[in-house]
Amino acid sequence: MWGGRFTQPTNKLVEAYTASLAFDRRLAEEDIRGSLAHVHMLGKIGVLTQDEVTTISDGLQNVQQKIAAGDVTYDVADEDIHMSVEKWLTEAIGPLGGKLHTGRSRNDQVALDLHLYVRRATVDVVRLTAALQEALLAQAEAHVDTVLPGYTHLQRAQPIRFAHHLLAYVAMFGRDIARLIDSYARVDVCPLGAGALAGASFPLDRHMVAEELAFADLYDNSIDAVSDRDFVVEFLSGCALLMTHLSRLCEELVLWSSQEFAFIELDDAFCTGSSIMPQKKNPDVAELVRGKTGRVYGNLVALLTVLKGLPLAYNKDMQEDKEGLFDTVDTVVGALKLMAPMMATMRVNGANMRQAVEQDFSNATDLADYLVRKNIPFRQAHEIVGKTVLYCIAQQKFLLDLSLDEFRQFAPKIGNDVYEALAIERVVDARDVYGGPAREQVEIVIEKRKSALSETEQWLKHVNL
Ligand code: ARG
Repeated sequence: MWGGRFTQPTNKLVEAYTASLAFDRRLAEEDIRGSLAHVHMLGKIGVLTQDEVTTISDGLQNVQQKIAAGDVTYDVADEDIHMSVEKWLTEAIGPLGGKLHTGRSRNDQVALDLHLYVRRATVDVVRLTAALQEALLAQAEAHVDTVLPGYTHLQRAQPIRFAHHLLAYVAMFGRDIARLIDSYARVDVCPLGAGALAGASFPLDRHMVAEELAFADLYDNSIDAVSDRDFVVEFLSGCALLMTHLSRLCEELVLWSSQEFAFIELDDAFCTGSSIMPQKKNPDVAELVRGKTGRVYGNLVALLTVLKGLPLAYNKDMQEDKEGLFDTVDTVVGALKLMAPMMATMRVNGANMRQAVEQDFSNATDLADYLVRKNIPFRQAHEIVGKTVLYCIAQQKFLLDLSLDEFRQFAPKIGNDVYEALAIERVVDARDVYGGPAREQVEIVIEKRKSALSETEQWLKHVNL
């Protein structure tokens, strides 16, 4: 395609090393869609006749069908999908195919394809994350009354409702969605018409192309248009943080499904067995999602590193933007597709959670708070309760097992009402602050998240792709 200036064919190793066809064939659909818009515009400005526009458009559609039917052969000598599509077009319609690339460079072409691709990927990831939120919300609604220890340092700390714990993840995924929707505005910008870097000498109607491809905006600097990969970095970064959240959830699923915790059981359909130990049921999916978080971080760091030393405008280094992007999309989409049904089918062992609360000291803060209400300064109350707990441990008792006389050894002000103050439901509902685990607060947040979810669904319904 560019042989004119050369007197020797490309070294075969160079051909193989510089080609991107093996992976950018994934952009074929975007490439053809962009070419169709370009051709329509060339017709409108009179660079192509209407007959030429019709022949080229039909030819492109024909190529599209052949690709979909697997009826094309990929030749690494083409270098990339852009060259392949043009070659297949020319095979189909003859030399007229050579007019397709008028007023265009592969630099703005590949940027356009990527914008179209990341736009779709963002919508897919948002949709799947919302589905996971929905599954978590349903579990939260079913487990408002399921109480378990909340942990800090992985030590039992204060009792909470399981719904409250799940809602923390719904909040995290809500921020992930908000980040992706925010960055969408910077994906939704059309670079076509920027040419190699300096636009074109034809009177291209860039607005028409942007409109046909449903872009909200277009780049106002041709150099930036072909040099910018910020939108890919932002998407990879949004996905990296999303994977962090998935990974933390998965870590908890692995812990909770262990015999030591036995708080949940994952459905058989989402677990695997051992080839040697017949009794094993392993939470492989959760472990793999946790593990695959690494490659998603890697893809982000790799692209940032590729970009950091590049002079403007296009440099071949930028071809390295694609494999990591595709890998991140596959990894995140794959994880989300499994996480939603895995969370929906998770069985919760409320009895074990409750037992864990009953057999611990997670109401110790409440004994201190009780003493504070009897006008003992908190610091002193803390000390009294610490000693009470120490006594309990020696006696192999929990706070609610102590007699009133035993309590009074530590603080004579303790009365019979202490038992009510330390009762589990009381302890949870006492934390009636905004965002806290009290029933009423949890119910408020469930409603809030539900309406946020329907806002996301509205966005998905109205987004132009
Ligand atoms: N295969 C290239 C890429 O993915 C397309 C752009 C090539 N442009 C060029 N001037 N060599 O980045």
